[in-house]
Formats: sequence, C-alpha cells, structure tokens
Amino acid sequence: MNETMPNGSQAKRETEDCEQPVVVATYQLTRYYGDGVVVRALDGVDMVVHKGEFLAVMGPSGSGKSTLLNLIGALDRPTSGRVIVNGEDLTTIRDVDRFRACTVGFVFQLHNLLPTLTARENVEVPMHGQRISKSQMRRRAEHLLELVGLADRMNHIPAQLSGGQRQRVAVARALANDPAIILADEPTGSLDTQSGSEIMDLFEHINQTQGTTILVVTHDPRVARRTRRILTMRDGKIVDDHPVQDAVWEDLRDLAHSRLGEMLLKEEDEALLEQLGVTTPDGVAALAILRSWLWKASGGRGETI
Ligand SMILES: Nc1ncnc2c1ncn2[C@@H]1O[C@H](COP(=O)(O)OP(=O)(O)OP(=O)(O)O)[C@@H](O)[C@H]1O
Ligand SMILES: [Mg+2]
Repeated sequence: MNETMPNGSQAKRETEDCEQPVVVATYQLTRYYGDGVVVRALDGVDMVVHKGEFLAVMGPSGSGKSTLLNLIGALDRPTSGRVIVNGEDLTTIRDVDRFRACTVGFVFQLHNLLPTLTARENVEVPMHGQRISKSQMRRRAEHLLELVGLADRMNHIPAQLSGGQRQRVAVARALANDPAIILADEPTGSLDTQSGSEIMDLFEHINQTQGTTILVVTHDPRVARRTRRILTMRDGKIVDDHPVQDAVWEDLRDLAHSRLGEMLLKEEDEALLEQLGVTTPDGVAALAILRSWLWKASGGRGETI
C-alpha cells in the first residue's frame, strides 16, 4: 500500500487537471434556509474544479450535497458568497435560462425523461432553441445515443427501456448542448449495483474521450471511488478533499469517516482498549498501528496519537 502519495499516473493527471482552465470556483458560498430556526445547508464553501476533472461529492444525508450542486447549476441562489461557472458569475448573471441550457448538463436520480417521446426525441429536447437544423439535431441525438450504447434503442419510449437504459438516455440528453460541466445528483441512486456501475463506466468513458468535466453527488463510497477526486461534506462544509487512491487507502478513509473510525480516533487509549476487549501486547500494538493509519487517512483530523 502506498500510504502517503497517489500513484504516479494519478499524480500526473492531477497536475494536468490543475493546468486546465477553472470551470467552477466558489468563494465562501452559503445557503441558509428558514427565518426562525436557520438551517445552514451550505456554510462557507470554497472549492475549485478544473476542466476535465471527474469528481465526486460525498457526505451523509442532509450534509448539503444537493444544495451545492443546485447552486453550481443555477437551480438555486446563494444566501451569500459567490459561485463562478465557466467564467460566469452566477450571482449577477442575467440570462439564467441560457446558462442552464448551454453550460450545464443535469442528470438526476430519477431520469425525468418525457414519457411520450422516444429516446432520440428526449435527447433532442435541450437542442430546441439552439440555432441548429432539425437534421443536425437528429444526427447529434443519434451520435450521443450511440456514445451511450443505445444505438439500437433510439425509437423506444422510456417505458420500453430498463432503468439503466433510461439513465443512459438522460446522460445523452445532458450532453446534448456540449456543456462545460455535467452535474449528476445521485445518478445511480435508483439503479441496481450492476446498472449503477455501468453508468459510472459511461461517465468515465465520456470524461476520458470527450474531456467533459463531471461532478457526481453520491452517498455511496463505491460510486465515489470510480471518480478521481472525492470531496466530503458534513454540516454544509467541505471537510475533506483528496485524490482517489488505492482501495486499501480508500477503505481506511471511509473507516476514518465512520462512527467506528471517529471512536477509534477520539477515545482515550485505556477506555478504547477496554471497550474493544484488547488485552494482549500484540493486540495493543495492532490497534496502535490501525489508529495511526486512520489518523493519516483522516487527513490529521481527530486527536494526535
Ligand atoms: N427548501 C428547503 N427548505 C428548508 N431546508 C432545506 C431545503 N432544502 C434543503 N434543506 C435542508 O438543507 C440541508 C441540506 O440539504 P441537501 O438536500 O443539500 O442535503 P443532501 O446532502 O443532498 O442530502 P441527501 O443525501 O439526503 O440528498 C438539510 O438539512 C435539508 O433539510
Ligand atoms: Mg441530495
């Protein structure tokens, strides 16, 4: 296991990413709800995403993932702070409809396809209003459906497609206007493990072949690990931001962010040993090693061991 550094190719990709233009930048972004009891859905988030990145935003339910994604996609407005996407400041932007149509492609947990339209017609929907002819629209929709592996399903309506296939159509639709970024909120949330994995294969393929920037919100660590960078949110804040590393290291990170991990990091040695029933010198030594790994994996959160 490589404990401290991502492997060489990952490190190279990160350097390449940083040389790319910035697609998303947020500055002290906040979104509060309510007048009496205020919910700090987003509480001062600073983040930067470069062109070509493939990243995940993770965190428990209610931690602010969708709120962040909705602000980046101009589906919502911040309480304070700034969010700049593809060079446009969304706090002062005039034509929000054009921004949503041209700059971002959305994929949601439920695909939201129009039930009476075929797969091809659904993919054409965002292209209406663009200055392209019907035949160009048709060719582009067909090309995108080929890209997502649905060349033989173009004329099927959503009810004739499986859940995974519907989500593929939704991905093709999100790509219709060649967006600067794809924002996907729990795109695998309503799919079985296999179909979910295939959607992540598809995102990976699109990211690598088209260079599209893709941000996936998920609470599933297995989904997040399919990307190249994971941001973790808690209580409206980003509490961790790291490049995806090898599986053992990611397991340790997940453990560090779990209740058990927090207990291992915080408990006094004596109390912990008693609680876990660790009595032998070997057991004590093994626990000490695990705790030091967890401490590193947590990015130095918790108490120094
Ligand atoms: N319209 C709203 N009015 C009031 N509170 C809201 C509203 N939308 C979200 N919240 C609150 O903001 C916080 C963050 O919500 P958000 O939907 O961003 O969480 P999430 O991380 O996406 O959760 P999940 O994994 O369950 O989708 C939650 O406490 C939620 O209850
Ligand atoms: Mg959500």
